[in-house]
Amino acid sequence: MQKTPETIVRLHHISKYFPGVLANDKVDFDLRKGEIHTLLGENGAGKSTLMNILDGLYQPDEGEIYINGRRVRLHTPIDAMRNGIGMIHQHFMLVETLTVLENVILGIKSEPFYINKKQTAARILEISDRYNFGIDPSLKIWQLSVGEQQKVEIIKTLFRGAHILILDEPTAVLTPQEADAFFEILEQMTGEGKSIIFISHKLNEVMKISDRITVMRKGKVIGTVNKEDTSEENLAEMMVGRKVLFSLDRKPMQRGEEALKLENVQAYNDKGIKALKGVSLSIRGGEIFGIAGVSGNGQRILSDAIAGLRPVSGGKIYLKGKDITGLSPREITRLGLCYVPPDRLKMGLVPNLSSVENAILRCYTRPPVCQSCFINYAKATHYAEKLIEEYDIMVPRRDAPVKLLSGGNMQKLLFAREVSEQPEVLVAVHPTRGLDIGATEFIRKELVKQRNNGVAVLLISEDLDEIFMLSDRIGVIFEGEILDVMDIEEADFEKVGLLMAGLKEKLPNMEEATPAARQA
Ligand SMILES: Nc1ncnc2c1ncn2[C@@H]1O[C@H](COP(=O)(O)OP(=O)(O)O)[C@@H](O)[C@H]1O
Ligand SMILES: [Mg+2]
Repeated sequence: MQKTPETIVRLHHISKYFPGVLANDKVDFDLRKGEIHTLLGENGAGKSTLMNILDGLYQPDEGEIYINGRRVRLHTPIDAMRNGIGMIHQHFMLVETLTVLENVILGIKSEPFYINKKQTAARILEISDRYNFGIDPSLKIWQLSVGEQQKVEIIKTLFRGAHILILDEPTAVLTPQEADAFFEILEQMTGEGKSIIFISHKLNEVMKISDRITVMRKGKVIGTVNKEDTSEENLAEMMVGRKVLFSLDRKPMQRGEEALKLENVQAYNDKGIKALKGVSLSIRGGEIFGIAGVSGNGQRILSDAIAGLRPVSGGKIYLKGKDITGLSPREITRLGLCYVPPDRLKMGLVPNLSSVENAILRCYTRPPVCQSCFINYAKATHYAEKLIEEYDIMVPRRDAPVKLLSGGNMQKLLFAREVSEQPEVLVAVHPTRGLDIGATEFIRKELVKQRNNGVAVLLISEDLDEIFMLSDRIGVIFEGEILDVMDIEEADFEKVGLLMAGLKEKLPNMEEATPAARQA
């Protein structure tokens, strides 16, 4: 007979209130020894809150925590650590100016006053070697890549003796290749008897790595399932509460007049290197022009140049036939170009301003919001509320800083503000990066809606599925040049992938090979 798996953590009826939100509503959750148990849910579902409770950072308003069958009270992360629990947070908690070694030691109150640095460094190296991390304890945190910093967090947790690891959205900062390597480490850990709670909202990786999956929605547990008994579609439905479209319904394109034209546009990046080497393209109203490419091939320079945020060193940009080269961002916006930039909180929104204030950033100089040179707050609030309602944006309080919104809701607000200006041209860069399924689906549908309304959409994305799902034409950018432009009907993944890698010379062979292959 098979042994029943040993339950090492049990959360019973946990509730947690924040002002205006019930973040956890009578949540039950358990973790078995040696398993990877995923906590899946959209942004704001309550995953981090629940795990911060298990890590002793928050106190529950209701409910109990049992570890190895014994009730415990975790008042601080140190209490959690004493029980073998360690959490790696979404936002790392390392001190940039200190070394790896210093960060590992930091905050260990139970250690003796005198810490033997040599021994500590040796133990760090031992952990690093065991998982093939290649971390040098004497390096400063700022000298490390994000992926390496994450490894330091893991070392720190293991150093303190954790055998129950909580990983809050660890793959958000990793490339797909890095994520795969990371999953191998997790499997190595469970092989050693460690138990892992993995938080994510990415279905494909959840299906790859989990033993069991618990789905949360709006603070409640919807259900716990074995990986073998579920599918991406099923999980998506549990997460969002309804069936999710994995494809979009698109009307045939009604191609209008030329709206945006680039002629041999050139620009330099911040390091003084020519990052755009003569880009020419033409986009008409009613079409989505997708730019595919590996990140860092000039996408950002291109979108900033179009929006007037970066000077061009050569070439011309036309909006509806008017030369906009060298105009200010404000002038370009007034002429009908709207921009959804890649970094919402740095460029698109003002983090410390409220949702209302952010919503009116485009229109506060005009009536109805502006009246005889003053902002009419009642009108501004009314304007913002209309957007918030129409775009179904979850805002706890209208006057709370916008940085407190979830990523998806920030993006919706930014998107709503931009398209409510009724642009001729909409430039959207990585519009769904980091968003959950619900918000991603929403933004994609909105992009198609804009296209159907005759807007010329320039979509820049690293997500090839997204490019193929949305675009009418695809251009591939490589090292600051558009290598090829094709209609969606004649585009395929392999061709675009080769171009993205800069392997244009391989293409003719491929095309020649196709008819022959078909005959064979
Ligand atoms: N420290 C906090 N103060 C106030 N509200 C919070 C705090 N942390 C989380 N919340 C709110 O609790 C809810 C759940 O958030 P969170 O646990 O971070 O969700 P998830 O990790 O699933 O994205 C959200 O509505 C969020 O805005
Ligand atoms: Mg979270």
